[in-house]
Amino acid sequence: MKRDSVPHTLLVATLLCVVCSVFVAGAAVGLRPRQLANKQLDQKKNVLIVSGIVGADDIVQQGKQKGKTATSSTINQLFKERIQKRLIDLKTGEPVDPKIVDGATYDPRAAARDSERSIFIKPSDDLARIKRREKFAFVYEVLGPEGNLTQIVLPIYGKGLWSTLYGLLALATDGTTVLGITFYEHGETPGLGAEIENPTWRALWPGKQVFDENGEIELEVIRGKPSPDDPNIKYEVDGISGATITSEGVSNLIRYWLGPDAFGPYLQKLHRQSLAEGANDG
Ligand SMILES: Cc1cc2nc3c(=O)[nH]c(=O)nc-3n(C[C@H](O)[C@H](O)[C@H](O)COP(=O)(O)O)c2cc1C
Repeated sequence: MKRDSVPHTLLVATLLCVVCSVFVAGAAVGLRPRQLANKQLDQKKNVLIVSGIVGADDIVQQGKQKGKTATSSTINQLFKERIQKRLIDLKTGEPVDPKIVDGATYDPRAAARDSERSIFIKPSDDLARIKRREKFAFVYEVLGPEGNLTQIVLPIYGKGLWSTLYGLLALATDGTTVLGITFYEHGETPGLGAEIENPTWRALWPGKQVFDENGEIELEVIRGKPSPDDPNIKYEVDGISGATITSEGVSNLIRYWLGPDAFGPYLQKLHRQSLAEGANDG
């Protein structure tokens, strides 16, 4: 076959494509465990940040000083000491038997896409606009130095304007007082919806209350700023100007995930425990 003939050119192009695709597929498969490990490390870091165990700047600083490995071992160590990651059945709020589902390999996002491992959400109930949700979800129980429960961190997600917002909400053991919030993945517009990441906006959340005395969810991001004499100020967070749709998305996804169709049963159990402990202490 002549080197500059059409069949030769096609043969070379085909061989090149096959070699490249084998290389790319091999790299994708070979790197998957590392990608998974990095994803898990990132989630641990976000849990530690939202619960205030480490500041976002601490991790950056430590990384600069000690290199990447030191930072990841610090995160792993702190997570191991302070966080109990539990897989719970959202329907009952009870832990899932590890013989039924292995928490070490469970991927909530994959479960949410799988019709066997998720439930369909009726459009009228679908405040977070996610269509389906996984049957089992992780909760992160934050332990104090004596191993006592000090707060819980719940994964929350739902639609903003352009994208799905993935975040974590830290609550006190009463199940209603907000201790922190973070959004670690979204595709909202920088300077507008993406301000949900802004530490100044996130600093408005600690101390806010989720539920009123009747157990109704009242927490919401409002348009503008609540006035200081507003009786509902403890339930209200300033809206992000120019990003009303993202702000409403945040209110709605919180309403869904803390409501009776998601973490509600788990939170009720926690609230009952907190009342019982309060009664025992008193
Ligand atoms: C290029 C562009 C990007 C926008 N990005 C967002 C966004 O990320 N989140 C959002 O809620 N609104 C975004 N908006 C504005 C919305 O279209 C809508 O006008 C806004 O949410 C209304 O909020 P406001 O009443 O506070 O102005 C964007 C608008 C434009 C033109």
